[in-house]
Amino acid sequence: MKQTGISYLCNMFKSFLLDTIRAAGQVLLEGIDQNFQVDHKTALNDLVTEVDKHAETLILERIRSHFPDHALLSEESGASQQTSIYRWIIDPLDGTVNFAHRLPICSVSIALEKDGEVIMGAVYNPFLQELFFAEKGKGAYLNDRAIHVSQQDDIQQAFLVTGFPYQWRDMPHDPVEVFGYFIKQGVPVRRLGSAAIDLCWVACGRFDGYWEHYIHAWDVAAGALIVREAGGMVTDFSGQPFQLNGSQLIASNGHIHPQLLQAVQTA
Ligand code: IPD
Ligand code: CA
Ligand code: CA
Repeated sequence: MKQTGISYLCNMFKSFLLDTIRAAGQVLLEGIDQNFQVDHKTALNDLVTEVDKHAETLILERIRSHFPDHALLSEESGASQQTSIYRWIIDPLDGTVNFAHRLPICSVSIALEKDGEVIMGAVYNPFLQELFFAEKGKGAYLNDRAIHVSQQDDIQQAFLVTGFPYQWRDMPHDPVEVFGYFIKQGVPVRRLGSAAIDLCWVACGRFDGYWEHYIHAWDVAAGALIVREAGGMVTDFSGQPFQLNGSQLIASNGHIHPQLLQAVQTA
């Protein structure tokens, strides 16, 4: 059957995205055992390594050579000048603190936005060889296997994950209060250190819910689509659909969302 223009474009973007994220993952895989330089950014443990920069350079060069008109937003280089209906949103290494300590819970995250809406995204953990992918309206996949969120509907039985910002002195909500609220009730909460992996592990049902008080578009652009396409829900702390220019995010299997939302609002 002949492909329409749109499906041809989407297939081309998909194969470009998957090739590129695998190549960037290889940079992480080869870099983790090397002696790499580590620099500090905005806060004491807000780090960037040489490997973050190598992976980012590889991704940006590939996008610029294949799609020179497309706009870019990437963690270490910021936003490009182009105006385009397409924008690539990139975190070349999500989980840098883990990586700097040789803890292999880290990923590459790349999303493609069209007209302000994420239409495709992938997250790759090369150490586990787990490649998550979703395209809007077409479901979510882990290494080509369709994935779905969990069925857990009781927050007391839930398995949760969260993340903490590098500093939160001036923020209105206290992430430790919410963490403590669940821990005091005996609800297990993990802190893995890669927001992109946290989201993907909600999408495939390993976790039932995730929240974070201060994230950036590059941390979650791909992961949020993957959760939604796996049947989950992604909102801000007031329960409105999460927008990429927002900083607070709750993702869940949908069943525990009201309980998670209430806890985050009241703790
Ligand atoms: C960080 C990770 C972490 C989250 C932080 C992010 P980075 O990204 O996703 O899990 O808690 O808010 O900044 O710095 O490793 O790319
Ligand atoms: Ca990140
Ligand atoms: Ca990063």
